[in-house]
Amino acid sequence: QTSLTRSVWTDRQFKNKMPDRKKDSHKGDHGRGLIIGGSEEMPGSIVMTVRAALRAGAGLVTAGSVKQAIPVIASQCIEATNLKLKEFDGVISGDQSIPYQNYDAIALGMGLGRHESTRSIVINAVRQVDGPLILDADGLYHIQHDLELFKGRTAPAVITPHPGEMAMLTGVSVQEILREPFAYSIEFARMYQAFVVLKGSFTIVTAPNGHQSVNTTGNQGLAKGGSGDVLTGIILAMTMQHEDLFDALRNACFVHGKAADLLVSNSHSVYDLMATDVVEGIGKVYRTFS
Ligand code: APR
Ligand code: MG
Repeated sequence: QTSLTRSVWTDRQFKNKMPDRKKDSHKGDHGRGLIIGGSEEMPGSIVMTVRAALRAGAGLVTAGSVKQAIPVIASQCIEATNLKLKEFDGVISGDQSIPYQNYDAIALGMGLGRHESTRSIVINAVRQVDGPLILDADGLYHIQHDLELFKGRTAPAVITPHPGEMAMLTGVSVQEILREPFAYSIEFARMYQAFVVLKGSFTIVTAPNGHQSVNTTGNQGLAKGGSGDVLTGIILAMTMQHEDLFDALRNACFVHGKAADLLVSNSHSVYDLMATDVVEGIGKVYRTFS
């Protein structure tokens, strides 16, 4: 119990763990992902997640959202397909059956909003999704009082909190999370048998068995709205392309930060970098080794 495995994820490990793309591969080989999020007032966050997932290599991506957000998503992500979800007053609302079994991995939460009627889609997903489920942003907000549901899952769950969201989930202050980020990650991961991606200027990835890895790529240019939504899309794509989920998460954090680093040292700066630039930077990272 006390022995810790903790290390920094390196360029070399990233390259070693990136899966090959076979010359005769087809889109189904690279994963079908479902991304659920967005609302009338926040259609942009899911757009960034969808675009990041496609840039990171997902074979097929479907965006599930409210009818008010779909025109924005469809025009900004023309390679994706859309799934219209039940809504009320511009937010995803009420019980609904979603064909989760058609997808290899699901990401849920970006731009959902915090309306009570949106909670059931999050609760039901944690109960029903029997493949990898990634929860981010308002998805974390809606699950905070029902964390016990994670214990009933047989397939993996991944949470991607920033320190404020981690504080909300654990019931301690942000300062306390920042004082002991490794300890709070490990406690959560073991207790709920979930993967924890605790984001920050360095990001800690923790597996349910307590193994931990630190990502050191990335820079202050990422301290801007939308960066986290991009990471979630990369995580979804990596999850579908790697054999091992812990490797997938470490590689996703690596690419996200490295894209920002390459952009800041070439075409951009820490001031002007935007989340959508980071999406375009994913290709620059891939080109360094392919
Ligand atoms: N150095 C390196 N990386 C950084 C830095 C930094 N100084 N600042 C931020 N990052 C990275 C983090 O590691 C993380 O991957 O940028 C990302 C920020 O993610 P979030 O905190 O989730 O930010 P954001 O995308 O704006 O979230 C959008 O969702 O989580 C909610 O409350 C949040 O409403 C907000 C929305
Ligand atoms: Mg976020």
